[in-house]
Amino acid sequence: MTHRIAIFASGNGSNAENIIRHFNHHRRNARVALIITNRPEAGVVERARQLGVPVKTLTRTEIHNPEIMLSLMKEHDISMIVLAGFLLMIPEFLIDNYPGRIINIHPSLLPKFGGKGMYGIHVHRAVAEARETVTGITIHTVSAQYDQGTILFQAQTDVRPTDTPEEIETKIHNLERQHFPQVIEQLLSR
Ligand code: GAR
Repeated sequence: MTHRIAIFASGNGSNAENIIRHFNHHRRNARVALIITNRPEAGVVERARQLGVPVKTLTRTEIHNPEIMLSLMKEHDISMIVLAGFLLMIPEFLIDNYPGRIINIHPSLLPKFGGKGMYGIHVHRAVAEARETVTGITIHTVSAQYDQGTILFQAQTDVRPTDTPEEIETKIHNLERQHFPQVIEQLLSR
């Protein structure tokens, strides 16, 4: 069976691009069928366009409208939702319709540096300020609370005392590139 993935993204879209490319290879068990964004100017829009994946830009209100969202998911026959730098809350009706089938990547070792306002460079700044010696990525299922679903996978990297938040970010993006598509693939083959 070929699963059809929807990626929700609000930013640059490096993870979205990496996941699209991974599943574009032959004999994979899934395809990225749809990108959803709340920011029409986000980098992810152009990346998806270049790779021929349809993009839907929706407002926060539209994302929280069950009729709009569920019919969109049905229209594209979506079996799994992947959040890759998506900054809005996921509505509960979507979580109920995709139990255990919505996953998120967070750029720290949760439960550390999670919660509201903790995204992207803000996380890496907090890690640097706390003088952490390791940080990493967490891939988890999405629950109604921010960053509090079941942890499926973590990977870590060293932080040097001299690392800037931008240097930490580069290390984290490398870990994400290395692991995120494989974790999705394994999850889908269970
Ligand atoms: C990624 O590092 C992801 O872990 C983080 O946003 C970045 C998006 O980068 N997500 C969060 O901070 C969620 N709380 P990208 O747009 O290049 O994929």
